[in-house]
Amino acid sequence: MRENIVIGADHGGYRLKEEVKAYLTEKGYPIIDKGTDSEASVDYPDIAARVARAVQAGEADLGILICGTGIGMSITANKFKGIRAAVVHDAYTAEMSRRHNDANVITFGGRVVGAGVAFSILDAWLGSSFEDGRHARRVGKIGEFERNHS
Ligand code: RB5
Repeated sequence: MRENIVIGADHGGYRLKEEVKAYLTEKGYPIIDKGTDSEASVDYPDIAARVARAVQAGEADLGILICGTGIGMSITANKFKGIRAAVVHDAYTAEMSRRHNDANVITFGGRVVGAGVAFSILDAWLGSSFEDGRHARRVGKIGEFERNHS
């Protein structure tokens, strides 16, 4: 079954968000859009928080965040417990972020990648799954740090 996906972008990622939404809808993914709704300037942390909270709450299985570079979105999303947000700009790191890091949010830059690369990133990410085993131990340690050292 297709995962539920929540998506969000600031003004730097708005256009690419619309393209990504159309691409994934066409592929049969249910998409929840948390904004923004135009190219008017907004603050990326507000959008990252909406997407991170939707994943935390189980409203969606996975999240996609797009800003100018993907960096601000990933920094913000990773402040939310249980969120593992990976900023990626190529298909290989997208795939590995899921297989080894169990990334439940992916971020990239609308000023860095075009639609074609974004689609290949998403195909790689959504087409992979967590490998478990030694990777589960390592991802478990991330959760431990979150619980005990923050
Ligand atoms: C907005 O100009 C830009 O700073 C934002 O989209 C993002 O790239 C931040 O990391």
